[in-house]
Amino acid sequence: MLLVALASQSQQVSWREVAPLLDRWCNSCHRAGQVGPFDFTSYDGASAYAPEIARDLLAGKMPPWHSKPSPLAYSNSRQVPDEVIAKLLHWINTGTQPGKPLPTPKRHPQWNLGAPDLVLSQPKEHTVDAEKTVDIVSFEVSPAELGTDKQDRFFEAFEFRPSNRNLLHHAVLKIDSQPIAAWALCDNGIRLEAGVAWMLPKGAPLTVELHYFKRNLRLARDLTRLALYFAKQKPIRSATLLEITKPDLRIPAGVNLHLEKTVLRVAENLRLHSILPIFQLLAEDVRLRLKGEQDYFLWVAPFEHHLMSSYQLAKPLLLASDAVIEAEAVYDNSTQNENNPHQKLREVRFAENGLDETFRFWLTVSRPLR
Ligand code: HEC
Repeated sequence: MLLVALASQSQQVSWREVAPLLDRWCNSCHRAGQVGPFDFTSYDGASAYAPEIARDLLAGKMPPWHSKPSPLAYSNSRQVPDEVIAKLLHWINTGTQPGKPLPTPKRHPQWNLGAPDLVLSQPKEHTVDAEKTVDIVSFEVSPAELGTDKQDRFFEAFEFRPSNRNLLHHAVLKIDSQPIAAWALCDNGIRLEAGVAWMLPKGAPLTVELHYFKRNLRLARDLTRLALYFAKQKPIRSATLLEITKPDLRIPAGVNLHLEKTVLRVAENLRLHSILPIFQLLAEDVRLRLKGEQDYFLWVAPFEHHLMSSYQLAKPLLLASDAVIEAEAVYDNSTQNENNPHQKLREVRFAENGLDETFRFWLTVSRPLR
């Protein structure tokens, strides 16, 4: 397919056509303040990295999207169509012709989801603990700040914006110590379908739990903000998180294909909207399917810890009461795994410390609002 598309590119491709393609497929991350390292919004910014863009497109490394084909469609799929790849490569191979770009939809300078209704901020800049690879800290937002001192409120979308994109790896929102929503570094923002929203119950503070993962010792400070987008009408379903985990995992030293499995029996009729797999540096391949079905509805391989993101379903998956979800993860605890943090191999167990491993899928599900 790609070769056919490449061969049919006989016309000149200039920045005029390329700018909107980069805007659509890359710039939610590759612009100032976002998670991608370079800014592709200007001709100079993009053409300076033309060889790297070509290399990563050809290798399928960028944009980050590690889902194998699934029977379900994902609304945040970042699989770039072959014609688009062909056009970008043609532009690069023919000397990155400049041009006046076609107009692109205007982006909010800070938030991918647009102007927020409420912005919450970490109270002060956090210095990540120098001794630790993983540092987990929380801050609490009062009902007065949320506007929930007298009433329930509902938000249908949210987005995190760390000041330091090298540190914040993922985050969890909690009410009364119950996780309700989760986000990871490559999520540009998470929005639920119309009629579904997260509830902020009257009088309850919101806890924002930040999971820092330090890759770069020099940049160890961050101030994270969180944007909320409130539902315009009272929703008909409320969203929360369901966890699939396996705390007793044991990954033997030196094994390069170690499989761990668990199941979750669903206790009530639910709709599944989004999935965030959270694993560490040894996970290679993580999957979910319904018991009795052959196909995995989510199959992430290779799992890339530093490019973690949610998989948002285009249409919710109905989970009937008593349905069983089978969860599997394959880990590589050998020296073949170049991300293995242990030079001296050892058995790895469940711990969030950057050296051990986790087994966790956060499922965003909804139930009717009573
Ligand atoms: C969802 C966010 C996201 C999107 C969309 C995205 N990138 Fe990236 N990109 C990243 C992140 C994060 C990194 C840094 C990776 C790392 O630290 O290893 C990166 C790194 C890169 C690099 C540098 C790789 C290196 O070797 O250092 C290139 C080139 C790149 N992206 C090109 C692209 C192109 C081209 C697109 C669109 C076709 C794109 N990216 C879309 C998040 C994204």
